[in-house]
Amino acid sequence: MTTTTDTAAAKIVLRDVRKTFALGNEDFVALDGVSLDIADNEFVTAVGPSGCGKSTLMNILAGLEEPTAGEALVDGKPVAGPGPERGVIFQQYALFPWLTVRQNVEFGLRTAKVGKAERRERAEYFIRMVGLEQFSDALPKMLSGGMKQRCAIARAYAVNPTILLMDEPFGALDALTRVKLQEQLLTTWSQEKRTVMFITHDVDEAVFLGNRVVVMAARPGRVFDVIDVDLPYPRTEEVRLSPAFAELRNRVWHAVYHQETTPISNSPKDGR
Ligand SMILES: Nc1ncnc2c1ncn2[C@@H]1O[C@H](COP(=O)(O)OP(=O)(O)OP(=O)(O)O)[C@@H](O)[C@H]1O
Ligand SMILES: [Mg+2]
Repeated sequence: MTTTTDTAAAKIVLRDVRKTFALGNEDFVALDGVSLDIADNEFVTAVGPSGCGKSTLMNILAGLEEPTAGEALVDGKPVAGPGPERGVIFQQYALFPWLTVRQNVEFGLRTAKVGKAERRERAEYFIRMVGLEQFSDALPKMLSGGMKQRCAIARAYAVNPTILLMDEPFGALDALTRVKLQEQLLTTWSQEKRTVMFITHDVDEAVFLGNRVVVMAARPGRVFDVIDVDLPYPRTEEVRLSPAFAELRNRVWHAVYHQETTPISNSPKDGR
């Protein structure tokens, strides 16, 4: 099973990660034996049923939760709390409603004590990159959902993280906006490569965005399969409508929806 790439070069390493939460007198196992290596500048998507531990995994990588056992390494070091090298984008827009688009994007730079001129320049660059330049002075309430998420993406990029952790960032958007933002995110990523871990419920989204799709299963939350996506870049509408895309989507769909009936041919625990 291809849960691992070249470990020496891996940007993110999860080794046998287990996470339990106290549930009454018992421990509820949210994640069990999750191992995964993500190479620098890879775009990995994770998909799986509700409750399979996707957000828990994300929170561990973000440094908001600690694994109960096993380890989560970034650049070879155990994750110990949030850090500026990891930008996090959640489903809820989490913009400051009283700040304009520009002020929101500049916020992290201000915290990082970046000088005014550079702050302005970097904010403008990323606002332009997500196509919001006409809305720099708008407040979040004047933006559509898709625009708010573009602003959140610009804000995450502005602090120059090497890793972007995205937990269902397009989950609240309509299908058309979602497709447009997927394309834009990939354009952004191809211009400004980062290591991306992107969580979604949507099989099409997972296949369209990822160079690998991690399929997770629930009870306990674990890696069920990892599927390589060898579709060409740029990922255009043509790619989305191609037979190769359909075939991959069917494979991932099957892995997600037939977890009870499909034997796990290559459990990540094999050989141990
Ligand atoms: N802080 C917590 N305390 C107790 N249980 C928790 C906590 N966080 C998560 N869980 C449990 O762990 C399991 C995994 O939750 P998680 O939010 O990671 O799932 P998910 O895959 O992100 O689901 P969804 O697709 O619905 O967002 C769930 O059963 C949830 O109830
Ligand atoms: Mg979740």
